[in-house]
Amino acid sequence: METAGERAGANRSFWERTVPKLWTTPLKQDITADVCVIGAGIAGVTTAYLVARDNRSVVLIDDGPVGGGMTGRTTAHLVNAIDDRYIDIENFLGEEYARLTAESHTAAIDCAEEIVREHKIECDFERVDGYLFLPPGGSVTELMEELEAIHRAGLVAVERVDSLPNTKIQSDAVLRFPRQAQFHPLKFLNGVAGAFIDSGGKIFTGTHAASVKDDDGVKIETAGGHAITAKAAVIATNCPINDRLVIHSKQAPYATYAICLRVTRPVEHALFWDTAETAADEDQEIGPVPYHYVRYARDEQGEVLIVGGEDHKTGQAEDCEQRFSKLERWARDRFPSLGGITDHWSGQVMEPVDGVAYIGRNPGDKQVYVVTGDSGNGITHGILGGKLITDLIAGRKNAWVKLYDPSRKTLKPRVLADYIAENANVAAQFRDYITPGSAKSVDGIRAGEGAVLRDGVKKIATYRDENGNLHAFSAICPHLGCIVRWDSCEKTWDCPCHGSRFDALGRVLNGPAISNLERAEIPG
Ligand SMILES: Cc1cc2nc3c(=O)[nH]c(=O)nc-3n(C[C@H](O)[C@H](O)[C@H](O)COP(=O)(O)OP(=O)(O)OC[C@H]3O[C@@H](n4cnc5c(N)ncnc54)[C@H](O)[C@@H]3O)c2cc1C
Ligand code: FES
Repeated sequence: METAGERAGANRSFWERTVPKLWTTPLKQDITADVCVIGAGIAGVTTAYLVARDNRSVVLIDDGPVGGGMTGRTTAHLVNAIDDRYIDIENFLGEEYARLTAESHTAAIDCAEEIVREHKIECDFERVDGYLFLPPGGSVTELMEELEAIHRAGLVAVERVDSLPNTKIQSDAVLRFPRQAQFHPLKFLNGVAGAFIDSGGKIFTGTHAASVKDDDGVKIETAGGHAITAKAAVIATNCPINDRLVIHSKQAPYATYAICLRVTRPVEHALFWDTAETAADEDQEIGPVPYHYVRYARDEQGEVLIVGGEDHKTGQAEDCEQRFSKLERWARDRFPSLGGITDHWSGQVMEPVDGVAYIGRNPGDKQVYVVTGDSGNGITHGILGGKLITDLIAGRKNAWVKLYDPSRKTLKPRVLADYIAENANVAAQFRDYITPGSAKSVDGIRAGEGAVLRDGVKKIATYRDENGNLHAFSAICPHLGCIVRWDSCEKTWDCPCHGSRFDALGRVLNGPAISNLERAEIPG
């Protein structure tokens, strides 16, 4: 099986443009270790590094390079100002869990800072203030109730302020979160991966995990035909590749978009987020609605502003170009001194039904651990996941175990309603079996584009490459059989059910699918 390439989409992120990815060699023999970590994004690299520091032998594999997944496509706000509201965490899970949420994300930012300092990693890490503001029509009362919940969670330095620095944004109320942080995610990842290798850890890139078995120790088989035998395994593939349904029915994949604009005068770095999700929640059928997240960064030419948002359920929208345009309009209306767009890209996040990630022992397994349900806080979730799993493997107590337990069930009515709505949405995607294709014939597919064609009872994902050659695959997702759809911006086949994504040539990029789309005859 061919392994995935340099990145998880055709568009290159700002980070991917400014720093090369780290490739090592693929695994070429059977190997044993105390712990095998699968996936070299923020969760996998930090976990491998922290477990190795605990005096265990660790092997880290990835089917692409280090940082070829969502960590290469993030915007890298490191925050305890989580995407979901503290008041909701209180309602769903209780006050103590809201406190532990704040504590764990704060600890993740501190952990990143310590690693940067200890290894002198030049990754543009900086502490910055973050500002949470209201979109037009947003409720001041709700934001003030949120501030009280934030204080109950222990973040007592968060305060109401009158305005946002260096923007044209008008908001009736603003919260300032001190001591948030930002970094260049690929510079950080490459630095931590280097420190891991220096401490004796092994990284094999271009190495696809084809199966994971938990049976008196763990055995991982690679697509290249080699076995890794370990006492424990950590599945850090963003969306777990070892679980059929338990976790996938409790989280939903959302595509999210980012653009980067040149800033034409010096600026003070800060983070900005609106509360659009909560303001517009009631108008939406399911799940989160588009909101915005903003930061600054720097390349050799100077400052840039990175604006993200316009989320939708993966595979369930066909207007990606318009979403980039909407982000641009939104940014130009609110931020001064903006020049041209330098980069644009998209990726996806996994939204857990109760707002808290799933990190810990995989349901039903003894020695297999997962980190998933990252939502828009996957950077801090990945780092705190590394700390938590290191403790679990060592048999040490950790106060966050129950909060992040992947087996937990949350029975609060709003969580159950979201759970039912998300799973009904998945069931509804099976109607694609009886609908026509997205093009009538291969003649309707332009070079560099793809379409799902109907061929009798079958649906065929058909791609015409830049040279005009056609490539055809079964459109049935190898995870649980939904029909994939073409993403014309990233040139990927996206599954609308649980987040599997495949490149134009059918190679799997994101779990839960663990194998490629099956090759098929070109429809006549
Ligand atoms: C546009 C955007 C903006 C975001 N902004 C923020 C933000 O500001 N702050 C924040 O905290 N979070 C943010 N997020 C979320 C965050 O970036 C992600 O949650 C996080 O990077 C996920 O890290 P990860 O290590 O879990 O997964 P990934 O980085 O995706 O790493 C998983 C790795 O697993 C590998 N893999 C998969 N399957 C296999 C297999 N079978 N065998 C071997 N390897 C495999 C992949 O190649 C990949 O490298 C954002 C996400 C996006 C898309
Ligand atoms: S991701 Fe589950 S069916 Fe495709």
